[in-house]
Amino acid sequence: MEAGKGSRKHTCLDQYPGMRVHQTDPLNVGAPLEVIRQAFVTPQDCFFVRNHGAVPHVDVHRYRLSVTGRVQVPLALSLEELRAHFPASTVMATLQCAGHRRNELAAVRPIPGEIPWGAETIGNAVWRGVALREVLRAAGVGPEVQHVAFLGLDALHKGGERIAFGGSIPIEKAMSAEVLLAYEMNGQPLPPRHGFPLRVLVPGYIGARSVKWLASIILQDAPSTNYYQVRAYKVFPSHMQAENADWTQGQMLGPLPLNSVIFRPCAGERLKAGPVGIQGYASASEGHHIERVELSSDGGATWTHATLREQPQPWTWCFWEVTVPLGPGAHELIVRAWDSAGCTQPEDVRQVWNWKGYVNNAWHRVTVVVQ
Ligand code: MTE
Repeated sequence: MEAGKGSRKHTCLDQYPGMRVHQTDPLNVGAPLEVIRQAFVTPQDCFFVRNHGAVPHVDVHRYRLSVTGRVQVPLALSLEELRAHFPASTVMATLQCAGHRRNELAAVRPIPGEIPWGAETIGNAVWRGVALREVLRAAGVGPEVQHVAFLGLDALHKGGERIAFGGSIPIEKAMSAEVLLAYEMNGQPLPPRHGFPLRVLVPGYIGARSVKWLASIILQDAPSTNYYQVRAYKVFPSHMQAENADWTQGQMLGPLPLNSVIFRPCAGERLKAGPVGIQGYASASEGHHIERVELSSDGGATWTHATLREQPQPWTWCFWEVTVPLGPGAHELIVRAWDSAGCTQPEDVRQVWNWKGYVNNAWHRVTVVVQ
């Protein structure tokens, strides 16, 4: 277990046996790939946690979700009212942070001030709650609404100000059936670290839009002006770096790109010559499904089709496996996926390098030694 900066006193690290603890205050943990690969539905204990501030303590009896902005009827809903007055919906969805696989980008050029996440900020869960659109319809969506903004209950400090974590999604996505106000994860109430009592769940989008400890929903004609929408979680043009960043520029991240990763073997693993079983996951770009996963052990000159272990679905990852013969020596194993949009992944991390280290979806490479 690795410990990053921060004190241990606010968190019980015994709760995270085998997890990689990047920071304890705020809590930022991920599971090693050997752990993640063990279950298609990730148990809560192994599900990565990405927090920008401390986990707020929420008294569920006093909790109210406010729905305001360009609505016909502003709402203030308790959790009980939300459960009682709106139909429940269940969605299996994979959640992935924008900083996933940042360590590969940081190996090309340093990315100071950001957590060097490996391929560990991903997990798949069964989420239950109320479709966001049910609540928006109850409030009455004004004709000028273009974006739905969210604010959490966490207290963060940015530029001398106390702010909440927030962000927004376009109204078209907000009105899609898969976007939930989730109160359960894998059949249990949401644990505090994952957003108790209520979080947004935006399948197919970067994890940052799935705001935890949800306090308010604001309907507006423009994207959120929250720090985590207009400064963080943006990809800037390549001529811009940390030193000359113009914060009015850059693309606000939303939909995730296609990705795939080798779970097994691990980097540096020593293997016996002969047929070698290789496993991993692939996740399609927003609203699509995985069509094909391919493995190369000769630098991308030839590719072997992997077998998909599940029927591909739009919002969940897909596990795959393939066996390739490997002779003695060092081998670089490479995976790439194709999705139903006909897209595949960029070959090299240098093609997707950006100074904040977001959305790396280059071919995933693992070097092993065969004896
Ligand atoms: N919501 C709030 N209120 N505060 C946060 O720090 N982190 C976001 C998102 N929602 C965050 C938040 C980010 S960056 C990610 S990737 C996901 O939560 C992670 O969700 P998880 O910790 O439940 O895995």
